[in-house]
Order: sequence, then structure tokens, then C-alpha cells
Amino acid sequence: MGTLIQNGTVVNATGQQKADVLIEGETVTQVAPNIAPDSHTTVDATGLFVIPGGVDAHTHMDMPFGGTVSADDFLTGTRAAAIGGTTTIVDFAIQARGTRMRDALDIWRAKAEGKACIDYGLHMIVTDLGSDAGKQGLADMDDMVREGVASFKLFMAYPNVLMVDDATIFKALQQTAKNGALICMHAENGSVIDTIVQQTLAQGKTAPIYHALSRPTIAEAEAVNRCIAMAEIAGTPIYIVHLSSEDALNQVREARDRGLPAFAETCPQYLLLSIEDQMPGKSFEEAKYVFTPPLREKKNQPKLWDGLVHDHLQVVSTDHCPFCFADQKQLGKDDFSKIPNGGPGVENRMQLLFHHGVNAGKITLERFVEITSAAPARIFGMYPTKGVIAPGADADIVLWNPAAEHLISAATHSMRCDYSMFEGWKVKGNAQKVFSRGELIVDNGKYIAATGRGKYIRREARGGAWK
Ligand code: URP
Ligand code: ZN
Ligand code: ZN
Ligand code: ZN
Repeated sequence: MGTLIQNGTVVNATGQQKADVLIEGETVTQVAPNIAPDSHTTVDATGLFVIPGGVDAHTHMDMPFGGTVSADDFLTGTRAAAIGGTTTIVDFAIQARGTRMRDALDIWRAKAEGKACIDYGLHMIVTDLGSDAGKQGLADMDDMVREGVASFKLFMAYPNVLMVDDATIFKALQQTAKNGALICMHAENGSVIDTIVQQTLAQGKTAPIYHALSRPTIAEAEAVNRCIAMAEIAGTPIYIVHLSSEDALNQVREARDRGLPAFAETCPQYLLLSIEDQMPGKSFEEAKYVFTPPLREKKNQPKLWDGLVHDHLQVVSTDHCPFCFADQKQLGKDDFSKIPNGGPGVENRMQLLFHHGVNAGKITLERFVEITSAAPARIFGMYPTKGVIAPGADADIVLWNPAAEHLISAATHSMRCDYSMFEGWKVKGNAQKVFSRGELIVDNGKYIAATGRGKYIRREARGGAWK
């Protein structure tokens, strides 16, 4: 006996159809009009879109950063994700300098074990390829791929913390050319930015706005250009995380126009928030919007939307990395460089993109599914188990009500953060029911399943199997 979702409109990235969806066990077994109800439990989806569960490929749960730890752990963060219609996250394990990647993988799997409410994969943040000319680190990368860690994040920013030099980046890229994994790049010129930061502080400029003003868009574009060039020399794909500006986007677009496998994600905060609207430079409240790359001038927003429409950008992730304002953000009260970088967002990604993308006529429903689910599943080695509603896929399904109105607020959100970056925003369109591997886990905004039910996903390194 299965679950039969009837009368809905099934929307995949490739098209939509009026069809029923049969779930048996953890998987979808049939998608067709008028499936016989037999003895199945029926769920009426009249007036609803039946979409693949969201895949958020960029979150930071329980992450030590900036002298504190991100406020959501794998329980609260994945529960909030589920409520917002996301059924898979890919989080980041961090290799501490001088330690092995396996240590980090063990630590992060232990953080998630028994807590995660939805399925999760892990990228590995590489901070150190070790001695012995990096050979040990490179072998460790292969080891990680065998463990299902099909992607690595490297930082061109945050000197003395996470930043690695070009030699390390290039060696890691060459290794992925062999093992099929994907390098994700935090692309900002950290040395230039750090110099500007020190000069800015020396002038007594300590307010949150100076975080944004000390990170020019050209510093992002330069790093994007440099890492794409290194990937081209290494003969391997590259994925730019949290791309924030037109200048940076131009670099990705030019590379793609030349046929290079360069991919990039942006985030709702860059599509919808701006220096003009959120950071007038008036108060410390603006620390709520201190993340990296920073907020940009409003003129960048339409360029990013255009990038999503024309596939210059492939994915929208959140970079969910919440720090509470009342205590954690206060660490930078007298010095913007000490404000923990990051903001909450995992719960609102689907709502914001549906409302400001689909309802606003900027993107189609299919493109919404592509950038929130299918593309990240494909790029990160989970497709077609995730990212599509089709026979054989995991039954990660959202019944999306396009008419549901929702007020975003810290007072009602589920994320463990005392503010929302979108406080008071009204959206139309919300997750009504969420299934994860066939189990109903969210009903009308409430998480109703056991915690810790989420499974670690061993992702496939598909080396170059890009569209
Ligand atoms: O400000 C941010 N983005 N915090 C999380 C770490 C990162 O760089 O992704
Ligand atoms: Zn980053
Ligand atoms: Zn375009
Ligand atoms: Zn991040």
C-alpha cells in the first residue's frame, strides 16, 4: 500500500503535466494521469503544484566561524529547511589546518547523526593539502570521493583563516580532473580585501557598512576570473559559490560563452537585498546583513535575475549561516571585521524565489524547479535520485500551494536566529505538505516527523558529466 497524490500539477524542470504520483516505500513508482486508487492512501493536491523537494547546496549548520558557532545545528536547521520545502541540503565539513580531511568528515557526520531531519550531503572545505608536496592531501581528496564527498570548497578570501594560495587551488583542481569531483570556489581576492579592511579600520571606520565597502565587486570578479582560468588550465569544471555581482557574473558568462564548464550559484540575499535598502550606514542593526560576499548596490539585482533566466547562473542556494543579533553579531560592535559573517535563510529560499521569481514573471515554474532542485542535484551528484519526480526517484515531494500567503518573520520562523533578513515581507506561495523519502514530514507549516531521520547522501563524482 502506497501514497497516491491525486489531481495535482506535477512540475519538473523539463515540463509540467496534470498527473497523479504514486509513492511506494521511499520512492516514486508511477507518474501518470488517473492512477487507480486501489488500497493506497490518497492525498488530494487539487490546485497545488507537485514539485521535487528543494535542494539547498550551500548551508552551514553548527559551524565554528568568527569566534562563535552558527546558531542552527543540524536539527533546527534541517527542520527549518523542511518547513520551507527543502528536502536535501549539502553542508560543509571544514578540514582544520594540520588535520586530515577524514577527521573533519567524522566530526561533521557526528554533528548531523541523530539530528538531521532531511537528507544531507557534505562538501569538504580544504584548508591544507599537507606536507610532502601536498601528496597526502591529494590522496585524501580521493578518499573523500570514495566516502561520497563529491565536491570541495576552497577559499580565495579570509587570509590566515580559510584562504589557500593559488598553488593549492591549482593542485586541487588538477586532482578533480582525475577523480571527477567538483571544486566550489569562494571567489574574492582576500589579500586585496584584507588590505582595504586594515586601512578602513585605521581610519576609524568601524560600522557594519564598511564590511561591504571594503569588498569591491572587482575583487570578486578578479578572483572568479582567476579561478576559472586555473580550472581551464587544469582541464576541469568549476563552480563559483554565492556569486553576488554583475562584475563577477560577466566573468562566468564569458567563460560559458567560450564553452567552459563554469557554473555558479547566487543566493536570495543578492537577488533581493541591497546596500541602498538594507545598509544605509546608520546603525549597528545593519550587522544583520553582514555576510560575505557583502550586499551590493541595487543595480546588480536585475543582472543576477537575468543570469538565472539565461543559465549564466545555474543554482540558487542560501549560504545559510545564522548568527543571532543579540549576542553573536555584537562581537563586532566596535569593529566590523569581527562581526560573524553570515545570515539565516534556509527556510525562506523557495518562498522568496517563487514569489519574486515566478509570481513576478521573472522565471517560469520549470526554471524555479531547475534552480532550486534539479540543477543542484545534478551538479552535486544526486540526480535523478533527488531533483526530479519520476519513477525510481526518492519520493522527496512538495505540495506547493501557489495561493498560500505567508508573512516572513523571526517571530514565527523556525530557524534558530533572533532576526530575519526578510522581516515583514509578504510572500504568496508556500509548501503545504512535504514528503521526504515517502514520509510526510511537514504538514501546513509544522514539522511532524521524528528528528534524526535524515540520511547521509553518498554523492557521485561525475567528472565532466555536465549538461
Ligand atoms: O558570510 C558568509 N558567507 N558566511 C559563511 C561562510 C562562507 O564564506 O560561505
Ligand atoms: Zn564562502
Ligand atoms: Zn542574459
Ligand atoms: Zn557559505
